[in-house]
Amino acid sequence: MGLNTVLFGSPGVGKGTYTQILRDIYSLPHISTGDLFRDNIKNNTKLGIKAKKYMDKGELVPDEITTNMLKERLENDDAEDGFFLDGFPRTLPQAKELDKITKIDAVINYIADDEVIINRLSGRRICRNCGYIFHVKNVPPKKEGICDKCRGKLYQRDDDKPEAIKERLEEYRKKTKPVLDFYNKKGIVHQIDANKDINDPEAHIIEDTQEALEKLMNEEGE
Ligand code: AP5
Repeated sequence: MGLNTVLFGSPGVGKGTYTQILRDIYSLPHISTGDLFRDNIKNNTKLGIKAKKYMDKGELVPDEITTNMLKERLENDDAEDGFFLDGFPRTLPQAKELDKITKIDAVINYIADDEVIINRLSGRRICRNCGYIFHVKNVPPKKEGICDKCRGKLYQRDDDKPEAIKERLEEYRKKTKPVLDFYNKKGIVHQIDANKDINDPEAHIIEDTQEALEKLMNEEGE
């Protein structure tokens, strides 16, 4: 399948969680600019040192730094047949730059209420080794503090503290939401209700996403 898909939505709505399921279904890479920055921070690179200043406060990293990093990542062979892009574009200039690099086929916009989002962010735990995402209540690991996938240690992100969460939600409203209009005009946005708990049999979040993607694939094949 050659679908270039953007996963869109507020911080904490579940983009990373859904992509870690979708990437296995479609055998396409999960490209997250947040993860790319966190890898750079872990390896203490110049890029990581620059990005950390913004990320810890919940602010967006400047467009030029982010776009250059993403451009480089998209040049990898694994992105040739499509990808799930999570956390990019987050501003109008980023969306316009992305348009110059490649064609986006679908934007999946996940929607959830603020209180659901705040609860998700404050309970999130991530594996320090493989990056797998858990939640203390909703998606708990079998053994507290330990990753089910690789036995790595779980940690809480610095920007999942209350002050940074507030700032991230504010940045999203001011700078990221307008990106939706850009894609709405292209007619490629699919809205998915992400309020329900992923374990709730009535949630259908992954199924709804698959339905939207498969409809597109069929249209492309016609
Ligand atoms: P980034 O890492 O992209 O963070 P984000 O957008 O704030 O998104 P999150 O990772 O917080 O949320 P998510 O939607 O992936 O939720 P998750 O699946 O983890 O960016 C971090 C920072 O990097 C930014 O603030 C910025 O500084 C910088 N940055 C990154 N990209 C940038 C860009 N393009 N431009 C400029 N700066 C950039 O889920 C959250 C929790 O909820 C988890 O614990 C999960 O288990 C749980 N959960 C999720 N969905 C459900 C569900 N349906 N039911 C039950 N539990 C659920």
